[in-house]
Amino acid sequence: MRKITIAIDGYSSTGKSTIAKQLAKALGYIYVDTGAMYRAVTLFAMRSEFIGTESSNIEALVKLLPKINLKFVYNETVGFAEMYLNNENVEKEIRTLEVSRNVSQIATIEEVRYKLVEMQKKMGQEKGIVMDGRDIGTVVFPEAELKLFMTASAEKRATRRYKELLDKGDDVTFEEVLKNVEQRDYIDSHREFSPLKLADDAIEFDNSDMGLEEQFERILGYAQRVINKL
Ligand code: DC
Repeated sequence: MRKITIAIDGYSSTGKSTIAKQLAKALGYIYVDTGAMYRAVTLFAMRSEFIGTESSNIEALVKLLPKINLKFVYNETVGFAEMYLNNENVEKEIRTLEVSRNVSQIATIEEVRYKLVEMQKKMGQEKGIVMDGRDIGTVVFPEAELKLFMTASAEKRATRRYKELLDKGDDVTFEEVLKNVEQRDYIDSHREFSPLKLADDAIEFDNSDMGLEEQFERILGYAQRVINKL
């Protein structure tokens, strides 16, 4: 059976990775979380004190970009590929609110985007991929056969993210999480290079009031229709 490319974009915490993982599993496709790549570069920048301190040094980060090695390594126990930064598993460290606070700024940097988009395009050369992010349907795979744009109200999204962070034992307040979600939405959709926007041919999918099962069935249905038409 011929394989397609599935691009999933949308605001933060709309459940893009949940649906992307489910689809990849059901179709036997590769799943790539591009947010993890931006988060890993952010972690590198924070550790090098190029960002997150009082002043930021984007020039120094750009100079060191060739030295940042990113790779995904599949972990059978958890059932998805984890992010490695210079051969260190950083899957946990990249999900903190600290990294979330800085990542949108790192994602505005043209050179960072160029490096990561080139890597993402290579990963999708063979199709059979579900990739989630902010610019997948518009920049990385403008020719993707199925494009989804996920939305939900900021409150619903912050509630989901807040629960996740609490479950992980992070000490955060709902207000902090909501503020972060709103700030990231703003920066992600107003930046100069590859802002988050709805591709002309994307399906807009609002899951504010939808359970995971219904969402999965509907979206799998879209994918199967596209695949059957090939
Ligand atoms: O999906 P996420 O919340 O883990 O993404 C983290 C940040 O990375 C998000 O605020 C914007 C940025 N990002 C991006 O600019 N382009 C992508 N393709 C993926 C993420």
